[in-house]
Amino acid sequence: QNARESLYIVSEYAANYFANELWTGEDGRAIGLSYFKERGFREDILKKFQLGYSPDAWDALIQSAVGAGHKEEYLEKTGLAIRNDKGRLYDRFRGRVLFPIHNFTGRIIGFGGRTLKTDKNVPKYVNSPESDIYHKSNVLYGLFHAKKAIRDADNCYLVEGYADVLAVHQAGIENVVASSGTSLTTEQIRLIGRFSENVTILYDGDAAGIKASLRGLDMILEEGLNVKVVLFPDGHDPDSYMHHVGSGEFKKYIENNRKDFILYKASILLKEAGTDPIKRAGIIRDIVESIAKIPDDIKASVFIRECSGLLQVEERILLSELNKIRAAKF
Ligand code: GTP
Ligand code: MN
Ligand code: MN
Ligand code: MN
Ligand code: MN
Repeated sequence: QNARESLYIVSEYAANYFANELWTGEDGRAIGLSYFKERGFREDILKKFQLGYSPDAWDALIQSAVGAGHKEEYLEKTGLAIRNDKGRLYDRFRGRVLFPIHNFTGRIIGFGGRTLKTDKNVPKYVNSPESDIYHKSNVLYGLFHAKKAIRDADNCYLVEGYADVLAVHQAGIENVVASSGTSLTTEQIRLIGRFSENVTILYDGDAAGIKASLRGLDMILEEGLNVKVVLFPDGHDPDSYMHHVGSGEFKKYIENNRKDFILYKASILLKEAGTDPIKRAGIIRDIVESIAKIPDDIKASVFIRECSGLLQVEERILLSELNKIRAAKF
């Protein structure tokens, strides 16, 4: 049995331990399970994603795992245990609800742990570190549970957080993943591309989410995939919005508010620019810069035409701008 296999095995053990605590532990039920229920998550979703709870103790997992014959070395190498200055091991996850992270073949490679405290000094999420089995830049949270649905729907919804993946699933939309642990990477986009060429961004409707969506859509275009965006109102994220309006309304909202990237960028940027003509000219350039990322010339020309109609600028001017941007890249 090789070392990587040992890391998978101890991660699997930990996931079972945390799930068992959530469903049968005294604190797990009273604190962890009630937390998920208060947030509106159904039991079948909690089970499907193997969610768990880590007791608020220094070494509950370590004691249990070592007692079951697992080596400290592997607990340390997965980051489940941390060694302090004095050489003592303690649990990374204490008093948190846990989201196991699966690779796309379904093996557990890491965890995201959410605090139940509202104290601003406590980090909201603690995540497993990189390890020999967990390379954050090429993992998508939820992909194992989503990949078949992504192929069937020929579209992948991309959200920011673990809770968003669960909520969208609960609404009956299973083709959803999150780029958790990092901001979206090129490797993650290529991973989506193995299942579908269409991505729909469902990021948080706050300033940070909008900023991340503009960065994400350029990266997705650069990889030759098609991208649409749905913006949620009032700073909602998919999770809060789904629980706010219910799954039926949520689905309708997504269907009716899906914008192609040009419309989305234009609506965001026009709002910021107001009537200032110089700022409005900047927007045109900004949108053409996104179009310039599309590797396929025919697709790019279709978007140039759309942009021309939408912003009332001659196609010829947009094309010359496009060529300038492309020339500057080489
Ligand atoms: P909930 O409050 O549980 O609904 O989480 P959220 O997913 O809505 O969180 P938020 O929108 O604040 O952040 C999006 C994602 O960024 C989270 O799902 C985490 O993966 C990550 N994240 C948020 N806060 C932290 C943090 O304090 N530390 C780390 N490492 N990651 C974080
Ligand atoms: Mn490696
Ligand atoms: Mn956010
Ligand atoms: Mn959020
Ligand atoms: Mn949220």
